[in-house]
Parts: sequence; C-alpha cells; structure tokens
Amino acid sequence: MRELAELQISASAVPGGVAFSGGWDACYRANLWSRIASRVLWRITEFGYRNEHDLYAAVRAIDWPRYFRVERTLRVNVTAQRSPLKSLEFATLRIKDAVCDRFREVLGKRPSVERANPDVRVHAFLEAERATLYLDTSGEPLFKRGWRTGAAEAPLRENLSAGIVALSGWTPEEPLMDPMCGAGTLLIEAAALARSRPPGAKRSFGFERLAPFDTALWERIKREPLGEERVPQLYGSDNDARALAAARRNLAEAGVERWVKVEQADVLERGAPAAAGVMVMNPPYGERMGSPEELARFYPRLGDALKQRFAGWRCYIFTADLRLPKLIRLEPSRRTPLWNGALECRLYEFNIVSGSHRR
Ligand SMILES: C[S@@+](CC[C@H](N)C(=O)[O-])C[C@H]1O[C@@H](n2cnc3c(N)ncnc32)[C@H](O)[C@@H]1O
Repeated sequence: MRELAELQISASAVPGGVAFSGGWDACYRANLWSRIASRVLWRITEFGYRNEHDLYAAVRAIDWPRYFRVERTLRVNVTAQRSPLKSLEFATLRIKDAVCDRFREVLGKRPSVERANPDVRVHAFLEAERATLYLDTSGEPLFKRGWRTGAAEAPLRENLSAGIVALSGWTPEEPLMDPMCGAGTLLIEAAALARSRPPGAKRSFGFERLAPFDTALWERIKREPLGEERVPQLYGSDNDARALAAARRNLAEAGVERWVKVEQADVLERGAPAAAGVMVMNPPYGERMGSPEELARFYPRLGDALKQRFAGWRCYIFTADLRLPKLIRLEPSRRTPLWNGALECRLYEFNIVSGSHRR
C-alpha cells in the first residue's frame, strides 16, 4: 500500500493483496513500478454461482471481443476457497469454453489456448457462493524483471527480496550487505531501489495485449522522470565461486554492477565493511542446501561471527528454519512471518550490540 501511495494511488488491504481503482495510467504505473506485487489484476465482473452451468452462463454473457482480439492466445486460471465445485479443472474448462463460444458466436472464430506463454490470462476466483473474474494486466508475474540469467541454488524471488529490503527499513544512506548473496537478488533489488530504477523497465506486460491498450499513454508513462538517484554502498559475498559468478552476471544484466562490491568470502570469517549498517541474508535451508544437523552446527557459529564483527549492525535473516533464534543464541527484536511460495518463513531482526542480547 505504501508503494502504491508513492505513485499517488490509494489502495486498501483485501485478503491476499491490495485493491485500488483508477484509470489505465494507474494500472500501467503500478505494473512498471511495483517492486513487491506479483500481479496487477483488472476486475471484470463478480457474480453469484452454484454450479458449472452458472459459471458458463455468466462468463459467456461477457462481451469478450471488447477485451482482446481473437488472434490472441488465452489461458484460464482458477483458484478457489470454499468453492462447492468438485473439480477446478472442469470449472477451468467451462470458463475457457464460455469465452471461446462467445467469440465464435460474434466473430465465427475462437482464440487458441496456450498454457506456457499466453497473450491473455483470465483468472477466476471462486468462493462459496461468489465468483470474481479478472484479466491479468501483468502477464508474466511481476517478479520476473527480465535480468535474471545467472542460475544459482535457491534464488529468492525478486518481489520477496524487495519486500525483505523494505521490511528492514534500509535507506540508501546506510551501507547494506548480504554475506550469503547467492545470485545477488537482495542486492539487485536494493540497488534498483536506490537508483530509482523501475523494476519493470526490461519487460513487457499483459496490458499491452489487451484491446484497450493505449500506446501513447504507455510511452508517456515510461518517459516520466525517475525519482532521486542515490549512490548506495552495497556489499555482497558468498563462499561459492559459482554463486558469485551468477551474481556478477545478474548484477551486470540488471545494470547495477557499479553500485555493488562483491567478493568471495565465508560469512563466518569476513569482516564488516563499515562501522554500522544493515545486513540481509537468506542462509541455505532444506535438504538440497545442507542437512538440518549441519545447519544446527552452523547457526551458533553465525551468531558468534555476528557478535564479534558486526556490533552496530541491524541484521535481518530470512529463513524457513524456525529453530534459528534458539540455535543462533541471539534474541530477535522482531519476527515477521512471510511466505515463500507455500513455505512459511520468518524474517528475524537482530540488533547486534557487543556483549548484550546473549541468551
Ligand atoms: C539460499 S542461498 C541465497 C540465495 C540468495 N538470497 C539469492 O536470492 O540468490 C544461500 C547461499 O549461502 C551461501 N553460503 C552457504 N554457506 C556459506 C558460508 N559459510 N559463507 C558464505 N556463503 C555461504 C551458498 O553458497 C548460497 O549461495
């Protein structure tokens, strides 16, 4: 909501996201500038339903050729909460049939269905008695910024990384460091924020393939002056040379490499690059990245390293491992629940003060 307020869009919290109303300018700006959202959905209609016939009839009644051309490829996604329908797959099929039948009735032809890379995405959200239909103005989810080339183990999603940086309260005047930087996602998001780079500058959007697309307006919005361009002090390290190579490629592709100093180092040994600052990190988690026993041995050593070398720093550790506060032997000053896909996680805040907060 704060992000949208900065774009002069007033939004309200709704389950699973935020809602706002406005013109296409608001929609284009939200897509171009939101660092945290996954998608911007355009609510087309809402109706009561009891079964698949009701769904079909209500969707067929919509004037679909008004929304997109028949040459566009289509995908329908259905999500549900307490829906009485037995099969969401069948509901998806009926909604897709209704859209296609409407086209055929009016134009004598129908759009093709494309699962992997559709031009147009229709989302239906089914509740116990009501269905809401949306057109996706983002297309590919917004965390796909168009710069990721370097693959590394378990990179964080870009919008989750931007959210973690926002929750840390970091401002570009403070040094920021990620000593387990992997492919560099947290650093790239912080650099883009400091430089006022639009996160969507390198990609296309679903709204460009909808009938009401206003090219002139979009060109104008893309040319709007950016915010302040600050010079951040960003530091990244990782003990794995391959992860660092991926981070360097991604930083270059995102065009922010000159703002981030990266080096190969073990978090347990490296020193602080400044007397105070903000540390963000996402240690390995899960079988793929280290056994629970290995991590149980690693966390106390991490706690010691932070206490010995990072007094004066605010540290934010993002993990799904809820044993961390106990094992690291530092008292978190804040715990923020966050979801990483279906995985429940926490962002733990530790204010590192030499000699205190020891359990
Ligand atoms: C979950 S990944 C971080 C992903 C990163 N946030 C991203 O978005 O790409 C954890 C990283 O910690 C690194 N790592 C593991 N042990 C380390 C250590 N002792 N010192 C420094 N880095 C370490 C791994 O090489 C891996 O790249």
